Amino acid sequence: MHGNQTVIKYFIVKGISDVPEIQIIIFLMVLIIYLITLGGNITIFLLICLDYHLHTPMYGFLGNLSIVDMSCSTITLHKILTSFISHDKTVSYFSCMAQMYMFGSLTGHELLILTAMSYDRYVAICNPLRYHFVMNTRTCVLLMGVCWLVGFLQVFPPCAILYSFSCYSSIEVNHFFCDIIPLMKISCDDTSFLELLFLIEGVVLLNLTPFVLTFISYIFIIVAILKIHSHHGRRKAFYTCSSHLTVVIMLYTTLVSQYLTPNLNSTLDSKKLFALVNTAAVPMLNPLIYSLKNKDVKQSLKRSLGKIKLII
Ligand SMILES: *[C@@H]1O[C@H](CO)[C@@H](O)[C@H](O)[C@H]1NC(C)=O
Repeated sequence: MHGNQTVIKYFIVKGISDVPEIQIIIFLMVLIIYLITLGGNITIFLLICLDYHLHTPMYGFLGNLSIVDMSCSTITLHKILTSFISHDKTVSYFSCMAQMYMFGSLTGHELLILTAMSYDRYVAICNPLRYHFVMNTRTCVLLMGVCWLVGFLQVFPPCAILYSFSCYSSIEVNHFFCDIIPLMKISCDDTSFLELLFLIEGVVLLNLTPFVLTFISYIFIIVAILKIHSHHGRRKAFYTCSSHLTVVIMLYTTLVSQYLTPNLNSTLDSKKLFALVNTAAVPMLNPLIYSLKNKDVKQSLKRSLGKIKLII
């Protein structure tokens, strides 16, 4: 038995920095990002629910994505905000485990929903006449159901293993929320199997599979677009998938860069700062990209604002 085995009741989430000046800057930055994220995603969500012009498969998926984005940024950012105000960096053992589980499954959802959206774009561009037949309500609900289910199930094995660990060499989690890798680092149980499982699940199953599926959809889409002869038709076809393509490129670039950033300066902890930018930026930018680049969303927003003015 390990000598320092005690029942862990709580963890201390270290956050980004201990320097008060940096803490203030980070607090303000995160607060602004979080408010924009909530505002943008709630707006998109309400528009999609209330405006029947947006009751199409694509926007249904986008509505699901906005729920994922809001939950994800709440999980990752709330401790930075609350601990700055209350100076309380502790997180109970169970809420730490719950955070780890939710973050893992929501990240999975995000990639899977984007994959479903790329299939939707593939059908819309390569098979436009059969679009309403293929992407019927049943298929959409089934697709989203599978995304949520797989998202929740795929992180279950690694999280269950970590949950069974009882020995921690420290209670300080070197991150701004409870993530599985920093928790693995402070565990004194044998993590080699968990690391392997995490590599297979996290990298291959969760990241690579959606990437390959999305990539294949886009190869078909590009081939179909190149086959269109009229310049106008080509532009129109490209336009219908440009928002989605932007989001996909942004998400995978941040994912890849997260794995590839070296830890240049261990005191500055560039990796944590980078993780903050990544986890905060994607949920904030998703609704902005969709509303700025998309005629349907812009028109819907105008209609809704017009209605609100009438009421006031
Ligand atoms: C999520 O997707 C399903 C299936 O397309 C759809 O029925 C549902 O309305 C979506 N949810 C939101 C909030 O848009």
